[in-house]
Order: sequence, then C-alpha cells, then structure tokens
Amino acid sequence: MTAKILDTLHFIGTNDRNKTLFESNWPLPFGISYNSYLITDKKTALLDTIEYGSDRSYFEDVAAMLNGRDLDYLVILHMEPDHAGMIGELLQRYPSTTVVTNARALKLLDIYFPCVDKSRTREVKEGDSLDLGHHKLQFVMTPMVHWPESMMAYCTTEQILFSQDAFGTFGTLDGGIFDDEINLEYYKDEMLRYYTNIIGRFSAQVAKALQKASTLPIRIICPVHGPVWRTDPKVVFDWYSNWAASKGEKGVVLAYATMYSHTQRTTDYIARKLSENGIRDIRVFNVSNTHPSFILREIWKYNGLVLGSCSYNTGMHPNMHHLCHEIEIMQPGKKKVFLFGGYSWSGGGLKHLQLFAQNMQERHQWELLNPGTELAGYPAAHDLAGLDPLIASYAATL
Ligand code: FEO
Repeated sequence: MTAKILDTLHFIGTNDRNKTLFESNWPLPFGISYNSYLITDKKTALLDTIEYGSDRSYFEDVAAMLNGRDLDYLVILHMEPDHAGMIGELLQRYPSTTVVTNARALKLLDIYFPCVDKSRTREVKEGDSLDLGHHKLQFVMTPMVHWPESMMAYCTTEQILFSQDAFGTFGTLDGGIFDDEINLEYYKDEMLRYYTNIIGRFSAQVAKALQKASTLPIRIICPVHGPVWRTDPKVVFDWYSNWAASKGEKGVVLAYATMYSHTQRTTDYIARKLSENGIRDIRVFNVSNTHPSFILREIWKYNGLVLGSCSYNTGMHPNMHHLCHEIEIMQPGKKKVFLFGGYSWSGGGLKHLQLFAQNMQERHQWELLNPGTELAGYPAAHDLAGLDPLIASYAATL
C-alpha cells in the first residue's frame, strides 16, 4: 500500500487484519496498520519498516517507489519489531544501505539482527542532522515514547514530524490514509485505547516530547500506525496533549466481577443512584466480558472509578485482578474511588480491592473516600438502600 505525501515523500504501509492480539495482549477488533516512509531526494532514506511477514508486497512497494535507485539510508526511529521486523531482509536486499539510529537502538539492532555489520551503521544523537538534499532530518530523542531508544525525526525544510508510535492508533487504514480522507471520530476511541494501553504509562515522557515538539512548526505528522496528518495535525496534537495530562472529566466507570449476578445487582443500584445524583457520564463493565484495554480507555476519560468484586477463593475475582493489574501498570491518573464487594461463605473481594486502592492512593494520589462495603449473597433492598448516603457523598466529590 503506497501513497504520495509529497513528490519526494511516500507512504509505504500495510494493514494487518490477521493479528488478533497486539503484543499478544491487546485485542485488535479493527486490525492495525504499520506505516513506513520513503524520502526520494538527492539521497534516499526509508524511515522505519513494518512487522515481519505482515505484507509480502512490502519490498515490491519499496522498490517501486525507489524506481531503480538504491536505498542510501534506513533511519530507525523505534526498534519494536512491529516496525523493525523487515530490517534484516531489507539490508540484505540493499547491501549499500547505511542504518542511521541512536546508541540505544544500535544495541537492540545487535540483539535482533546480529548479522548487521557495524560498519553499516551511523549513530546519531539529540539534535544531529541527516542531510538528504532538500530534506534535512533533525533527530529528537523521545525516550519511553514508546521504548527507551524511541526518537523522532523532524524535517526542517518541509516541517514534517516523523513521530513513530506517538500519534498512532489501532485500526487499519480502510482506503483513507490522510486525515482529510477519513472520519476522524472513527479513529478517536481506538487511538485513545492505543494511547492508554501502549504508551499511557509513560505520559510524563509523552508530555515532555509534546513540549519539545510544540516549539516546532509542524505541517505534517507521519506516525507508524494509523492516519497521516497532513491537513490539520493540531487535532491529534491536542488529543494527545489532553490524554497525556491524565485529567479525567466528571464521570464514573463502574467495573464489576460477578459469578451469579449478585455483585451486578449492587453495581446497577450504584449506577442508578449516581445518575439520580447528577452524574451524566456513567459507563458500566462486567470485567469478565470486556477486555481490560477497553475499560482502561474509559477509566482514562473520567475522574470517578467504582470497583466491585465478588469474593473468589478469599480474594477478588481473577478477572478483576487482571483489570487492577493493568490499572497499576498503566497509571491512568488520579481517581476518586468507591469500592464494594460481595460474599457468600467468606469475604475477601473487598479486602483485596482495598489493598489495591490503598497502594494507588500512596503512589498515584488516588482518593479513597470510604473503605467500602461488602454485601452478603443476593443484596437485600434495605442493604442497598444503606449505600445511599455513601453514594450521594461520593457523587458530590466528582
Ligand atoms: Fe508500534 Fe512501540 O511499536
């Protein structure tokens, strides 16, 4: 799949609708694209590749865009194999190509592709430039966006930011490749799910990278997943700035684990009472039916979080444990938290939710507004009504 961005800049990418789990963890209901970029100036340079084996026509596309010319440089901005996968074969096909990347990426290159001769590599540092003729690439180190070696390249003459994972998204490019060819709203939710689950953990570093980038005039953003932003890159820049700030808007996500719907009954009761107390954005998830990545995306959006778990082998339900684990890793910002549990022959669900929330309180300034309540069996109406004052005071804090 190719597209002209400028006379001397080409998109070369592919859609992956076969992979079901990105990084063997994150569901891909809408697939994913891998993008690379070829500059055909006085010198030629390919920026990143694609995942190994994801598209057998990739090398044909590179050759077609080179139109008989040799490839002078392979610029590696990020070494994660969804972009670095084709490096080995590419360098075999183009034996004169020099790899241009930073010291940390060179170490990864060595462990992924030990056959690459060191004499074929050129190390660059923050602020270094690569002169291709008209295009001049300046390198900006952006560690942890997404890996330690991640960097961006900025074309000073055409004001293009090659941003690697930043500004990327899940979802294939279904015909439209550029921001002016697609319905942006279609991508926004998947872009936030990508952000919250892939690089959200590094929001402080993202904010730093955005700060660096905000000093540059940017006409086009070329990420390695999803649309190319050639008409209004400010849209995606603003989305990312908001997400990196991790400031949830007023609203509540309720995530619950239940075996026989008892905890679900409590969840629906709390959700209704929150609504009666004026909360308009309420999202409810059964953690056994929804992958944590989708729940985490919604948690990112709002300042309130209600977690409820049945007791399971004297602890919380395994699927609630999975969600809590992802929350702890991805750090979705400060939350106001309300906990509850359910039990039959032993407690434990609430206790383990409390331990989790206390840890988040200490490390990430979560607010645990009350210790929570554990309800027995099928929750009786008077037990549910007993939650009313707690729910009302919780809603008032949001
Ligand atoms: Fe798309 Fe961090 O790789």
